[in-house]
Amino acid sequence: MFDSTALADPGASKQAIQYHYDVGNDFYHLWLDETKTYTCALWEGAQTLQQAQEQKLDYHISQAGASGTRFALDIGCGWGPALTRMVDHHRVHHAIGLTLSQQQADYISSLGDNRIEVEVQSWFDHIPAQPYDAIVSIGAFEHFARPDMSHSQKVAGYRSFFDRCHAWLRPGKRMSLQTIAYENSDRHDLHPFIAKEIWPETDLPRLADIVVAAERKFEIIRLRNDRADYVRTCNAWIHRLNERQDEIIGLVGADVFHRYVHWFKLSMIGFHTGTMSLLRITFQRVP
Ligand SMILES: C[S@@+](CC[C@H](N)C(=O)[O-])C[C@H]1O[C@@H](n2cnc3c(N)ncnc32)[C@H](O)[C@@H]1O
Repeated sequence: MFDSTALADPGASKQAIQYHYDVGNDFYHLWLDETKTYTCALWEGAQTLQQAQEQKLDYHISQAGASGTRFALDIGCGWGPALTRMVDHHRVHHAIGLTLSQQQADYISSLGDNRIEVEVQSWFDHIPAQPYDAIVSIGAFEHFARPDMSHSQKVAGYRSFFDRCHAWLRPGKRMSLQTIAYENSDRHDLHPFIAKEIWPETDLPRLADIVVAAERKFEIIRLRNDRADYVRTCNAWIHRLNERQDEIIGLVGADVFHRYVHWFKLSMIGFHTGTMSLLRITFQRVP
């Protein structure tokens, strides 16, 4: 059996993640919705991107059983939409976020909310100050394996993630995870542009890898594949990028603008055809 505890951090490096976010907070905040959520929304009945993002945040927070709890963790917190939603709308006493992006952490700190804490730290290095009552992780698991890893290294890396989450959560508590996954494809089927220009050092999981890695640590109590929701989210992002085209090009240049539009168009095709899926998985800690 592969000893997952002996591994170095199996995911994309801080430098690779920062490469993506170094385009700057101002760029992302010109076209993301007001919550600054940078992952697939949950559209069921929603009319606007913002409604769909809030519905998605509420879904994960309630699936994780976070409402009314003392300490909740968000692994890969971005600009903090789930942290803010937890303390403002779900009576969470203290919400802790992990990100690898200094710019995201600076933005969250600038909100000046003492119910929220953020650390520029990988889950791999995190040592909690207390056990958690709930964990959410929305759109970060995509970065927890690198393309140069063998399949068994990849599963062992995921296993070390679930081992840690198991150790950090109180018995019987829950984690809600959202991730893109390979569906009818593998790493060779995706356009090389994504690995080269958008997300270096990143390799997607397959559902089966997640299931195996979580075995005997977490029971899966709910699973959804909402890939159509990502088609609609990318479409909304393309519209919003186009609406602010002049400002965006003034801020970051035409190359960056076209790179993002191209990426979201490719992604729409990928989710529409079932090349990629969008998984939302609710896990309950095995005691
Ligand atoms: C696509 S963003 C999603 C942000 C947020 N959850 C949302 O829904 O808007 C991915 C996030 O995962 C973080 N991330 C990537 N690898 C990580 C790691 N090893 N440990 C902690 N955070 C990580 C990034 O810094 C970023 O904040």
